[in-house]
Amino acid sequence: MIQNWKERFSEDCKNFEGYPIGKTLKLLSDPEIISLAGGLPSPDVFQKSGLRNAVTKILGPETIDRVMQYSAIPGESSLIHAVMNFLKRDGINVCEDNVLITTSGQHGLDLAGRLFLNPGDLVMVDRPTFAGAFVAFGLNRPEYIGVDIEDDGSNVNAFRQKLEEIKKSEGKFPKFIYVVPDFQNPTGITMSLEKREKLLDLSYEYDIPVIEDSPYRDLRYKGEMIPSIFSLDQKREGTNVIGLYTFSKIFCPGMRVGFNIGPAEVIKKMCNIKEGNILNTPKLNQDICCAFLNDMGLEEHLEKSRNYYREKLNLFLETMDQYFPPETGVSWTKPEGGLFLWATLPKHIDTDELFYEAIKYKVAFVAGWQFYGEDPSTNNMRINFSYCSKDQLEEAVKRLSKCIKEQL
Ligand SMILES: Cc1ncc(COP(=O)(O)O)c(C=O)c1O
Repeated sequence: MIQNWKERFSEDCKNFEGYPIGKTLKLLSDPEIISLAGGLPSPDVFQKSGLRNAVTKILGPETIDRVMQYSAIPGESSLIHAVMNFLKRDGINVCEDNVLITTSGQHGLDLAGRLFLNPGDLVMVDRPTFAGAFVAFGLNRPEYIGVDIEDDGSNVNAFRQKLEEIKKSEGKFPKFIYVVPDFQNPTGITMSLEKREKLLDLSYEYDIPVIEDSPYRDLRYKGEMIPSIFSLDQKREGTNVIGLYTFSKIFCPGMRVGFNIGPAEVIKKMCNIKEGNILNTPKLNQDICCAFLNDMGLEEHLEKSRNYYREKLNLFLETMDQYFPPETGVSWTKPEGGLFLWATLPKHIDTDELFYEAIKYKVAFVAGWQFYGEDPSTNNMRINFSYCSKDQLEEAVKRLSKCIKEQL
């Protein structure tokens, strides 16, 4: 009988713990708890009848046999073409060879990590950044060079300084820079145009790829769209950027479909990895996403979603102003889109401990430490404003303020 399974696990998996957020979400089964923790889009904007109609059509007698079969590993050609058109409206021009359909954004990250990282390799990131990226890359056991994010996105000067230090010490260069430039998860911060250009300068100067993760790009509620780093790279005739996209936030997470874009050589290799890890993304889900892009009134749907989330964001920000006056020492970001904002509490409050207190007040958030690759900050929280009803959002802020005021 095998007594010790752990000693048989691979070095990559032995100490791999998966997703910390997943574990805390399990504590939230009490229906009385108002959870601002998950990154859930609202079912209020889901295109339910659109989905029903698409499924009925896709499962018709002419097409059902193909839907029930294995399908092409790079993705359905119809979806790839729909994606190419989708990107065109955002100033990005790619061919079939530059697109790989993924089984969601998390899979896109996983492919990037597997493709580039050996144990001990370095990845340059914002502090904080998307926790799921640490989980996806974690299986390859990299180390992180983090730089505190600023109100207008990555601190590119500090990235440069770190790279200069590495150059001088003849150390190992990071394999890539990972950023979420639009309405970042967890802070909601957007990178300015100037910084996007500067990041590209840095990428060219030091020959470092940029991985641009863009799940929220189309969810802008205020202000002007800023060109994606991928499109700026194309304009400068560069090939340094890999873009990661998902249908999870603009359509629905249940589909588990996304896409990666990049140089043909990178996409081909990612496809080879996909052959080994999942083969094809389910054709049914791809066909549904294709219908989402082509037949369900995309622009109208996005406009409706933006109007819906804008109201929630505004209400949330107003309620925060009301319950957290400046003397509380609590501050928070003012996102122009996306699903999250980031609150900073007085230094002495450890939000990991506060999480368990807040559950007693029947409200939940994600403790900020989970969004750091190294040396976590302990007095932040990520707050999701997209999922709860407006009444719940107001009540959640009231509960949070009661709970936090106890700690002041
Ligand atoms: C920045 C970022 N990247 C990737 C993902 C993963 O997306 P998906 O749910 O499609 O796997 C998320 C999900 O929250 C995200 O916020």
